Amino acid sequence: MTVESAQDLQGLKEIGKIIALTVRHMQARLRPGMTTAELDAIGAAFLQRHGAQPAPKLTYNFPGVTCISLNDEAAHGVPGNRRIRPGDLVNIDVSAELDGYFADTGETMIVPPVAPARKRLVDCARAARDQAIAAAQAGQPLNAIGKAAERQAQRCGFNIICELAGHGIGRRLHEEPRDVPGFFTRLASRRLHEGLVITIEPFLSTGSGRVVTDANGWTIRTVDGGLSAQFEHTIVVTRGQPIVLTAI
Ligand code: CO
Ligand code: CO
Repeated sequence: MTVESAQDLQGLKEIGKIIALTVRHMQARLRPGMTTAELDAIGAAFLQRHGAQPAPKLTYNFPGVTCISLNDEAAHGVPGNRRIRPGDLVNIDVSAELDGYFADTGETMIVPPVAPARKRLVDCARAARDQAIAAAQAGQPLNAIGKAAERQAQRCGFNIICELAGHGIGRRLHEEPRDVPGFFTRLASRRLHEGLVITIEPFLSTGSGRVVTDANGWTIRTVDGGLSAQFEHTIVVTRGQPIVLTAI
């Protein structure tokens, strides 16, 4: 969507803050030995307390409230009876709706003990997201975002998972532009305009970056067992630095 009023911006900020707090709340309560379903239930209760509807369930009938993806799982991990272990990479992705507005955010964290190689991947994924956000300015082409993310990934020796992308958001979970690539492509040449609401969420991998969908029909994992990390914010494009709706 494109922000057209102060009310639009306020509505987006409200749901953005709720989902950002949901991720923090879940991270703070994550304990090794817990199942991903137990962690999901913590997020579900938090969203419900704030009157927000989980967007994956609402939009796609996803079998969970949040997406929880471990290690080689990049996205759309289905909460279940898998136990989270020490050293695991845990990506928590939360998207939700309140008063007709949608926002989407996610983070990868490491359950202690923190292996230095895993920390390097996570730090690089965060930096790739933040540099991509800085490149998302009105008048710039859409592919300036992926260019910045890809450059950061390459600097650290990691690959972008090209099949996973950001997206337009606001009135629905996924709307125009359908794809905000995390890598440079000449095809993404449309110009960003003031007020446009999109997610920026480059996925990085220690492997080739190629992915496959699990037999469950949801979970996307790397083909070669490479680890994955992702950080996601929902932003509003401006003439200067974007408004980050999911920062707290
Ligand atoms: Co997300
Ligand atoms: Co998203």
